[in-house]
Amino acid sequence: MKDIYFAEKKILATLPKMGKVAQSSELKAAFEKHRGQTEEHVTRLEGVFEAIGKKPVGKTCAAIMGITEEGAEIMEEYNGSPSLDAGLLAAAQAVEHYEISRYGTLRTWASELGLTEAVNLLDLTLSEEKETDAALTELAESAVNVAAEAA
Ligand SMILES: [Fe+2]
Ligand SMILES: [Fe+2]
Repeated sequence: MKDIYFAEKKILATLPKMGKVAQSSELKAAFEKHRGQTEEHVTRLEGVFEAIGKKPVGKTCAAIMGITEEGAEIMEEYNGSPSLDAGLLAAAQAVEHYEISRYGTLRTWASELGLTEAVNLLDLTLSEEKETDAALTELAESAVNVAAEAA
C-alpha cells in the first residue's frame, strides 16, 4: 500500500511532463485524461488506508523510480525526434503494467482478508489502469508508431 501510494504520487507529477513533450495531440489527451484519473487513484488509496484504519503514508518505491527514470531518459534522448512519442508510449505502458500488477496483488490480498470496501476501491482503479493500457496500445498501433517508422 505504501509503495503504490508513493508511486501514484510520483506518476501524478510525471504525467504533466510527458503530456507537455508529447507530439501527437491524441497522446497529449491520453496523458491528460489519465492525470485526472490518477488524482482519483490517490484519493481512493486514501480511502483504502482509512478502511484498514491506517494513516496514508508513502514509502519510496524503487520500481517506479526506475521506470520513471527510464521515461526521463527517453524524453531527453528522443527530444525533437519523431520517435519521441513511441518512446513515451513505451514508458507509459511500463508504468501501467507496474500499476496493474500492484493493484492486482493488493486486490487479491484485500479479498482474502474480506475487506470488501478496499476490494471495491482497488477494483475501480485497477480497471482504469487496464483501460489506459488498452488505450495506449491502440495509440501505439496507430499513428504514433507509424510516424516513428516513417522517420
Ligand atoms: Fe494509477
Ligand atoms: Fe495508471
